[in-house]
Amino acid sequence: MRIALIGTGYVGLVTGADFACRGQHVMCVDIDTLRIDRLRRGVMPFYEPGLPERVAEAVSGGHLTFTTDAAAAIRDADVVMCAVGTPTGEDGRADLSSVFAVADAFAQHAKDGAILVNKSTVPVGTAEACRARIAAAASNLRFAVVSNPEFLSQGTAVRDTRNPTRIVVGTTEQWARDILRVVHASFIEDHVPYLEMTPRSAEAVKCAANAFLATKISFINEVANFCERAGGDVEDVARAIGLDPRIGPHFLRPGIGYGGGCLSKDVRALMASGDEVGYVFRLLPAVEAVNEVQKWYLYDRLARAFGGVSGKTVAVWGLSFKPGTDDMRNAPSVPFIRRLLDEGAAVRAFDPVAMEQARMRIPEVALAETAIDAARGADAIVILTEWDEFKEIDFSPLSQAFSGSVVVDGRGVWRARSLPTTWRYIAVGVDK
Ligand code: UGA
Repeated sequence: MRIALIGTGYVGLVTGADFACRGQHVMCVDIDTLRIDRLRRGVMPFYEPGLPERVAEAVSGGHLTFTTDAAAAIRDADVVMCAVGTPTGEDGRADLSSVFAVADAFAQHAKDGAILVNKSTVPVGTAEACRARIAAAASNLRFAVVSNPEFLSQGTAVRDTRNPTRIVVGTTEQWARDILRVVHASFIEDHVPYLEMTPRSAEAVKCAANAFLATKISFINEVANFCERAGGDVEDVARAIGLDPRIGPHFLRPGIGYGGGCLSKDVRALMASGDEVGYVFRLLPAVEAVNEVQKWYLYDRLARAFGGVSGKTVAVWGLSFKPGTDDMRNAPSVPFIRRLLDEGAAVRAFDPVAMEQARMRIPEVALAETAIDAARGADAIVILTEWDEFKEIDFSPLSQAFSGSVVVDGRGVWRARSLPTTWRYIAVGVDK
């Protein structure tokens, strides 16, 4: 099977490499010439554990190539996979211009019997809209448009793609279903749950899944805020409720809220899609509102510890929106740091992998070479990403460098550790 994969972001590159390792012939396409040149030299466009090795394996197996020539890749392909970005537009709706550009290129160049598979996260009805565009532009072409959402998470993308929890294929055309089963044959042999449904259902699955994950996080954050006032330890509560299989243990980690390019975007896109069909979600605005204020609860506790942050030096540990990635899109660290600076604090920040990103996104902040350097002489340490390096840090050199006493743990990484007695520990859902 020949696959053209359009877009070399997290979804395109990781799934392209995975399909190639499974023996499909994959051509990854991007309009960014520099990115394609670098990929040909084995240089990844972003940090993702295991990806350089997976891409190298696919390339050395002779099944993965890179190009900027979308027309040639599409002409050659049995299946064209679309993995381009769908950023949030000003009205909260997903901006589909890149998806439609792929559909237009498909209409112009695809061979008879080709299938356009959409892996980008899109609103319900996008497959039908693509189908109509292609049919209008290429009336004699026999083709199908399939919705095939992707569920990988950044930081574990390679593993998630190798061992998916499920594969969702949305099409009403039997011949397209048959071809998609061939594309996914190795997963089906491995008994990965394989769900066939309509394109509209498949599109709804993706937004609903992310909205549910966001809901779990906002829920546990509210319970944490409650425990803080009422007494009780949210971690104990989360562990105990998570053992109920109807609730499940995942995504019940309290903290400063969810960030990244997906959860918030998809919650908003689902609300915007609801508006379009005359349905007003009541739950989702609250999920977003809880998330928006969550980081400020902790900020306020930090500010209260000093009677205001002005003139204080704050070490911020962790800039990426979660561990395992250098992605800072919607990272709580950015507004948190900006507010510290606005209110007169000096900030020294450190992240194990996101320093390059930080230089671009928050050029106004001073960066330290190591976590301990950031903490040296600071009044407070604030942990915003749960990197293992922070979790496991040796307190003895740290307490020599850190002269302050306030520790704000936005991800609960030190809850189980015994801290030096002179430190005041502030974390979500606990007042230790
Ligand atoms: C999310 C989904 O988890 C993926 O299934 C989906 O495919 C992806 O979006 C996507 O749409 O492409 P991702 O954005 O990589 O993946 O990150 P998550 O692991 O979902 O974490 C999102 C945020 O929630 C992070 O800031 C994380 O720190 C936070 N989080 C997560 C919590 O605060 N508590 C938790 O218990 C779990």
